[in-house]
Amino acid sequence: MSLFNNITYRAVLDSHLFSYTEGTLCCEDVRLDTLAEQFGTPLYVVSRQSLVNQLRAFEAAFAGLPHFTCYSVKANFNLSVIRTLAAEGCGCDVNSGGELFRALKAGVSPDRIIMAGVGKTEQEIEFGLTSGVLMLKAESVSELRAIDRVAARLGKVANVAIRINPNVTAETHPYITTGDSKEKFGIDEAELGEVFDLFRTLPNLSLQGLDMHIGSQIFDPEYYVAATQKLLDVLETTRLLGFDIRWFDIGGGFPVTYDPQKPATPIGRFAEKIVPMLEGKGVTVIFEPGRFLAANAALLLTRVLYKKKNHAGKEFFIVDAGMTELIRPALYQSHHEVLSVLRHETGVVADVVGPVCESSDFFARHRMIDDAAEGELLAVLSSGAYASVMGSNYNGRLRPAEVMVDGSEVTLVRRRESYEQLVQNEM
Ligand code: LLP
Repeated sequence: MSLFNNITYRAVLDSHLFSYTEGTLCCEDVRLDTLAEQFGTPLYVVSRQSLVNQLRAFEAAFAGLPHFTCYSVKANFNLSVIRTLAAEGCGCDVNSGGELFRALKAGVSPDRIIMAGVGKTEQEIEFGLTSGVLMLKAESVSELRAIDRVAARLGKVANVAIRINPNVTAETHPYITTGDSKEKFGIDEAELGEVFDLFRTLPNLSLQGLDMHIGSQIFDPEYYVAATQKLLDVLETTRLLGFDIRWFDIGGGFPVTYDPQKPATPIGRFAEKIVPMLEGKGVTVIFEPGRFLAANAALLLTRVLYKKKNHAGKEFFIVDAGMTELIRPALYQSHHEVLSVLRHETGVVADVVGPVCESSDFFARHRMIDDAAEGELLAVLSSGAYASVMGSNYNGRLRPAEVMVDGSEVTLVRRRESYEQLVQNEM
């Protein structure tokens, strides 16, 4: 069966700057087989231009609003990825002291960093305040008290946004919906009265922003409309109470295409709905895209170690990357396109699985794959967001190298881990 069909071809095109040239998959102007020779596998390959293009598309869509885009670095916190986006004008959304450290290390100015996290420790709050981040996003009454305590100790007034739980259940995988009142995130509407009182009584807090984040990989703009309306109602209340809100943060969650048969809603469709709601509201809108910017900007390059067929006729490609490099299929049953780096005219229905001792260690199940031979390379697409950052050393696996391609230039942006590094913190 020929695999030169529309679906496979479109998948590559959707992945922006990954495409076949003379039958070989390339990232921008660089052949992936030469990258594998030079850097080994598994290897994350990031297209710099793809990151930039996605950011520009996002900015163009929301150009009609006074806004500030803060890249959610949890999607891909490699310093070079952060630097690339920051150089194009992004701020950062960080979710922990570690991510704050990374954003600062990448050279992002603290007043362009916002700090989230449903369970910030006092040390993390202190790190945020002493670094001078733009604001901390608080998710509970107790956390507000903790921020006030730490700020008082430091002799500072903390700029704070409150994250509201709008109780909007966006349709996506249940593990990545966050705006529902069943979830741990945000402050319940019923508690807002108490929260506003706190801002009057605690002298080291200054309410600067309202915030929400309803989930991730959300296809239907109507969920944003519903949640934004709730946040606008809260804005109205704060104005009646005399608060001067500068920032109106509607979070991230904008979708990308993983499966060419389920194309993501274009970003313009979100803007069409959101922009008219927020025009002329006297606030700067903050967006926190992560996946939208990073997911299709990288792929995971892996080598076929073995092929085998069992008595039931089931075929497997056993490759040298696994769930330790991309856990999304195991965790969310997510679809990732798997392409052969060298084009083949014939295909085989197979599972593409990793070397980890878990049955959930797979990239694709019962999928038509180009009939690559043992020793050949496969590429797992859409591995730019929530891939390396969710990686682990399970089974004693070494974290892969990461390279960034810019035209025909290649830069190693993370070295492959060594066995010594696996044990370096142990006695
Ligand atoms: N802002 C906040 C407060 C968030 O919690 C998140 C993601 C984002 C922004 C960025 O969301 P994005 O634009 O990337 O959808 N590991 C999961 C995704 C978890 C998302 C967690 N929060 C996955 O692989 O699908």
